[in-house]
Amino acid sequence: MKSSKELMALEDKYGAHNYHPLEVVLAKGEGVYVWDVEGKKYFDFLSAYSAVNQGHCHPRIVGALKDQADVLTLTSRAFYNDMLGPYEKFVTEYFNYDKVLPINTGVEAVETALKVCRKWAYLKKGIPANNAKIIFASGNFHGRTLGVISASMDPVATKDFGPYLPGIEIIPYNDITALKTALEDKNVAGFIVEPIQGEAGVFVPDEGYLKAAAEACKKHNVLFIADEVQTGIARTGRLLATCGNCSCEKSCGHNPEVKPDILILGKALSGGVFPVSAVLADDEILGCIKPGEHGSTFGGNPLACAVAIEALKVVTDEGLAENAMKLGKIFRDRMQQLADKSDLVTLVRGKGLLNAIVINDTEDSETAWNICMKLRDNGLLAKPTHGNIIRFAPPLVMNEEELGQCCDIIEKTVLEF
Ligand SMILES: Cc1ncc(COP(=O)(O)O)c(C=O)c1O
Repeated sequence: MKSSKELMALEDKYGAHNYHPLEVVLAKGEGVYVWDVEGKKYFDFLSAYSAVNQGHCHPRIVGALKDQADVLTLTSRAFYNDMLGPYEKFVTEYFNYDKVLPINTGVEAVETALKVCRKWAYLKKGIPANNAKIIFASGNFHGRTLGVISASMDPVATKDFGPYLPGIEIIPYNDITALKTALEDKNVAGFIVEPIQGEAGVFVPDEGYLKAAAEACKKHNVLFIADEVQTGIARTGRLLATCGNCSCEKSCGHNPEVKPDILILGKALSGGVFPVSAVLADDEILGCIKPGEHGSTFGGNPLACAVAIEALKVVTDEGLAENAMKLGKIFRDRMQQLADKSDLVTLVRGKGLLNAIVINDTEDSETAWNICMKLRDNGLLAKPTHGNIIRFAPPLVMNEEELGQCCDIIEKTVLEF
């Protein structure tokens, strides 16, 4: 068996260097734990960027994958398959929309939503051809394709990748006045926003911002598009972060604070087992897409359908939103106590189990990285989003005792740093 060192050397030599992973080579995962190739056990405090909300290798989800893999994996959409219809019924009822467009990765779902929005703008809103504009928020992260990096403000994502897509306007995040001004433009078709900006460093907007934004969009006949790829599926203590303070038990759609016109999901839609993403909207919007206008060979494949149904059932059956809400409060309390004791931590923020601590150093420093290396040595894996911000997003199947152990590791590591 190869050592961690040898395996890292292989990636370094044969793989493109488009990531900068923390130095740990994982070989096994179960629930909230992962193990490296030498057998050392860690708490996973990133959950593959919130894809593994249901915990690593959840037996029910893996079981669904194996059962379906024995029977039928891919037909393409050239033919019907016996899993897609039942999945589409299940997922649309779960999230309370008329229709779904199934696709694979998060960024593909975002691209899909942008295309759907443009199509709707020309067919329904009556924007003159090629004039549709979509508003984005500063600090956004929607993935890495050419379409979405055209709206990015991060030089690492954009430099030397131009020319960029036109028809994009960027306004400040969490600024309702700026949005209202931008919406005055009759050619605006949509406003796309992350309910909490994860990659940017877990920025939670002001209470009421999303609701006011959705209302302003409605007033101007502009589609309110929520990118819940990272915040969705119980991560923030509700099924969806746009659920706000609704009291629904079954799913988001029953009494949402905000119901996005277009909802974008990915990551935990499969529990991290398989790339599955989705765009949900009502008939008036998704009905604008006709055969041949959008698709993907793998989108809506039987494996993905089986896995996603089981992954969503697990979220409900195991009360993951409620658990994330409960543990999130405990976690932020503990981190606040740490911030009160240590000059190194200046701020704690987040919702549910999507949280971050801000380190007392500059954005371009390596302090957060170095703390993550020490956390690793102490048995907990997390990753900085910037030089001075560490995101904490454990699997939502964690229990209170495990969370307490994780808080102890973080506290010890920071106080010793
Ligand atoms: C909000 C948001 N949108 C889109 C994406 C892109 O998802 P993927 O990496 O699956 O393409 C991410 C990934 O982190 C994300 O956080």
